[in-house]
Amino acid sequence: MFGKRSSNSASPSKAPPPAALVAEEAQGTSKPPVIADPGSPAKPPPEPAPSPPVEKRSSGREKSEQYYDTKTQIFSALIDAIDLTQLATLDSEAAREEIRDIVNEIIQIKQVVMSIAEQEELLDDICNDVLGYGPLEPLLARDDIADVMVNGANTTYIEVQGMIERTNVRFRDNAQLMNICQRIVSQVGRRVDESSPICDARLPDGSRVNVIAPPLSIDGPALTIRKFKKDKLTLNQLTKFGSISPEGATILQIIGRCRCNVLISGGTGSGKTTLLNCLTAFIDASERVITCEDSAELQLQQPHVVRLETRPPNLEGEGEITMRDLVKNCLRMRPERIIVGEVRGPEAFDLLQAMNTGHDGSMGTLHANSPREAMSRMQGMITMGGFNLPEKTLREMIVSSIDVIVQAQRLRDGSRRITHITEVIGSEGDVITTQDLFLYEITGEDANGRVIGRHRSTGIARPKFWERARYFGEEMKLAEALDAADVGENTFDT
Ligand SMILES: Nc1ncnc2c1ncn2[C@@H]1O[C@H](COP(=O)(O)OP(=O)(O)OP(=O)(O)O)[C@@H](O)[C@H]1O
Ligand SMILES: [Mg+2]
Repeated sequence: MFGKRSSNSASPSKAPPPAALVAEEAQGTSKPPVIADPGSPAKPPPEPAPSPPVEKRSSGREKSEQYYDTKTQIFSALIDAIDLTQLATLDSEAAREEIRDIVNEIIQIKQVVMSIAEQEELLDDICNDVLGYGPLEPLLARDDIADVMVNGANTTYIEVQGMIERTNVRFRDNAQLMNICQRIVSQVGRRVDESSPICDARLPDGSRVNVIAPPLSIDGPALTIRKFKKDKLTLNQLTKFGSISPEGATILQIIGRCRCNVLISGGTGSGKTTLLNCLTAFIDASERVITCEDSAELQLQQPHVVRLETRPPNLEGEGEITMRDLVKNCLRMRPERIIVGEVRGPEAFDLLQAMNTGHDGSMGTLHANSPREAMSRMQGMITMGGFNLPEKTLREMIVSSIDVIVQAQRLRDGSRRITHITEVIGSEGDVITTQDLFLYEITGEDANGRVIGRHRSTGIARPKFWERARYFGEEMKLAEALDAADVGENTFDT
């Protein structure tokens, strides 16, 4: 149809001449394809121009060295035979068809013996290399994966159901991996190479991507992808998974609805963003909400939402828009609620100010291992940000701004739980006082190593936000939820 191939119509004439490739197995064998004399070692084929990702299929089968050798040879022949700039003009289906035709011809010419199923697999792999994200494609197509972690060309881990496992996915070499990283980040107008080796980006489906390249990453490029879940988890689903009890879920729902200022605290990947997304579901449709994120992950269902995203500096080190810039700007946008995806620096100050000045119902997440640590992290971020505030003022500011801290945790068995719903109630001397309303208690472990525990209320019948709940007509529901939850010892924490 086009390209170098069409200059000599019938066969991919620019492909290497049919080498003395001899079939060892009869057609239809289930063993990997075999090439008896691969000839001179194939040079790594050049990586083609960026193009939108294509249809993805998954393959869990272990692949042999021979498979990779065969693939490298066929790929080299294909790259010689095809005009990539022309290919880039086709839509993905047409490009796939074109590649399919040529690969089939190459297979015939080279007399590679493989079953139909193997041919299909090889074809998928090659299409993924040319048109998509190469060996990453099968992983990106799976919906059950939370994270993909590539540590150089030969090592890829995934997180499935809370557990990290190694996969058999590998790249031809670090150059191919680097090319794929480059292809990903170039789609959002960024660049990653030795001179700017750190880059955040996003896949077209919304997945969050981080690349750190050599020389900073010593054993080849490290690529981390937080897969975007099309269907975000809901509070109902979290309840079904046991992340929170039904009563706890009701309390969270009331907290979301009645405009408490909330901090969601937790470790990496503990489910903070998911939880924040769940809480925003209870915001009234009439409220004007502004979200600020480093990489837009939240999916608010309300009609009146403005989504803002930070911007890294360009290659000259200019043009950066920080989270603090966004939060400050938000205040001039007549927000009713401000949602900060992740509080990481001096924007902590602006968020607290916003919470304090009539934007109640604002929310944010931050990395901390307990509600108490979350508060000291907030203090630390403000101090490090160069605000010269006396500690007492800082403490007062936190107490008057934050109503509730919700703590998320990924437990050792991979399950994610909401472990605390804690209120900030005041300060005594140098200490901010808090009270836990709801806790998760680990009671043991079953035979399969799964953590057993229970959510319980701490027996506080009238939380500090009771009046707020009453104002929104939710106090009966709140009382019922608190009553229904197991009542244990009151953990009044100072
Ligand atoms: N309660 C839960 N049960 C099962 N899976 C969950 C739960 N909460 C979150 N997840 C899944 O865990 C992964 C990480 O969640 P999320 O992005 O919310 O974590 P995070 O704490 O915001 O991570 P990070 O620190 O990287 O920002 C996602 O794939 C999400 O779908
Ligand atoms: Mg997050």
